[in-house]
Amino acid sequence: MAVDVLLGLQWGDEGKGKIIDNLCKDYQIVCRFQGGPNAGHTLYIGDQKIVLHTIPSAILHPGIINLIGNGVVIDPVIFKKEIEKLRALGYDILHQLLLARKAHLILPTHQLLDIASEQSKGLNKIGSTLKGIGPTYMDKTGRNGLRVGDLELKGFDKKYQALKEKHLTLAKLYPEVSFNLEDAEEKWFNSLDILKATRKVDSEYFIDQALNSGKKVLAEGAQGSMLDVDFGTYPYVTSSNTISAGVCTGIGVAPNRIGKIIGITKAYCTRVGSGPFPSELFDATGELLRSAGKEFGATTGRPRRCGWIDLVQLQYSIMINGVDELIMTKIDVLNDFETLQACVEYRDESESLLSGMPFDLENSGIHPVYKNFAGWQCSLQEFTHYENLPLAARNYVEFIENRLGKKFVMISQGPGRDEVIRVTI
Ligand code: GDP
Ligand code: IMO
Ligand code: MG
Repeated sequence: MAVDVLLGLQWGDEGKGKIIDNLCKDYQIVCRFQGGPNAGHTLYIGDQKIVLHTIPSAILHPGIINLIGNGVVIDPVIFKKEIEKLRALGYDILHQLLLARKAHLILPTHQLLDIASEQSKGLNKIGSTLKGIGPTYMDKTGRNGLRVGDLELKGFDKKYQALKEKHLTLAKLYPEVSFNLEDAEEKWFNSLDILKATRKVDSEYFIDQALNSGKKVLAEGAQGSMLDVDFGTYPYVTSSNTISAGVCTGIGVAPNRIGKIIGITKAYCTRVGSGPFPSELFDATGELLRSAGKEFGATTGRPRRCGWIDLVQLQYSIMINGVDELIMTKIDVLNDFETLQACVEYRDESESLLSGMPFDLENSGIHPVYKNFAGWQCSLQEFTHYENLPLAARNYVEFIENRLGKKFVMISQGPGRDEVIRVTI
C-alpha cells in the first residue's frame, strides 16, 4: 500500500477540502502534512457550511481516521474552536482524530511576531493570514520549537516561558503592535485541555503500520504549490513545503511509498495576499470571477485576487509535484462567460518566449499570452457524465489536458459534496 496525495496546484483555495470530502470514501486514513490554521478548507453538507483549518477534511466520515501530521503547526485555540464547532453541529470527532507528537505548537507570541513582522514590512508585506505560521516554522528549523509531545513531558511550562521570553526580546526589534498577550495566553492555556485529550501518535510508526496492514492513506495538501517555501513565488509564500515532497517529511513516510499524486486546479485562478500573479485581471471580468466564484478567503474573509487559468504555471506545478491525475473545480463559475481565456505562454519585454517560470516572477517583466475559448453559457448543474457536457466546455477542458499532458479524472461543478462529474473516458 502507498500514500496517495491530493494537493493544490495554484495559490491555494482550489477546493481541496470539498474534493477530499468526496474522495475520502476510498481511504481509511486521511492526513494533513503541512501548514496550519492559515488553511481554510470549506465543506458544504447540504446548506451547512463547515470550514476546517487544522483538522483534515475527511472528519465528517465516521469510519475514517484523520491524522494531523508532524509537519503541521497547531494553534491550540483554533484547534479547540474547530472541535467545539463540529460538536455543536453534531459531529463528535475526537475518537477518529490523531495528532502527531512531533507537530509544532503555535504560541501566542508567534502570532505577535507574525503581526509585528508584517506591519514592519509596510507595502512589501507578504499578506500573511497572521496566524503565526512563519515564526513557528522559524522556531522549528531554528531548533527552538515546542511540540505537541512536549505537553506530555515534565518542564513544559518552563520551556514555554523560555520561548516566550525569547520572542518578547525579538519583538523589540519591531515597532510596537497592539496585541493583548495576557488575554491570548489565557485562551491558549485554557485550550490545551482538548489538545491533551486528543490521541497522540508517532506518525511515522503509525503510517508504517497502517500501510503494512493494507490500509489506504490519502494526504491532504494545504495552501498551494505556488506558495511552497522553496518553489513558490518567494518571498510571497507560506513557510512550509506544500508540494508532494512535503508529504514524506510531513507525516514520516519514505518517498518510495508515495502512490498516486492528484493535483487540483480551479477552472480559473485566484490568489489571496501579496505577490506576483501573471494572469490576474484588474477589470470587470476579474470582478465577475470574484462574485460568481464567491472568492473571499475562508480564513480571513479577504477578497481573493482573480484571473484566468495559467497553463505555464500549472505545467510547473505538475512537474514539481509529479502529478499523475488532475481535478478541475469551479467550472460552474465560468457558466455565464461569453469568452474564456487561458494563459498559454509567458513572453518577456522583447516578446521572446520564456521556457518556464522565471526565478524572479515579480520583476521579470513578463506578460502572459492568452488563447480565447467560446463559453458554454448554460448551467452545468444537471450533467453527471463528462461526455454529455456542452462541446464548448469539453473543448476548454481538453485543450488544458492536451497542453498539460495529464487527464482530468474529476470535474467539480458546485460547492456541494456530491457536485462532481467523474470522468471515466
Ligand atoms: P481549499 O482551501 O482548497 O479547501 O478551498 P476553499 O474552501 O478555501 O475555497 C474553495 C471555495 O470554493 C469554497 O467556498 C468551496 O465551497 C467552493 N467550491 C469548491 N468546489 C466548487 C465548485 O466546483 N463550484 C463552486 N461554485 N464552488 C466550489
Ligand atoms: P488553503 O489551504 C490561500 C497565503 C496568505 C499569504 C501567504 C503567507 O486554504 O488553500 P501565511 O499565513 O502562511 O504566513 O501566509 O500565503 N496563504 C493562503 N492562500 N489559501 C491558503 O490555504 C493559504 N494559506 C496561506 O494569504 O499570501
Ligand atoms: Mg482555503
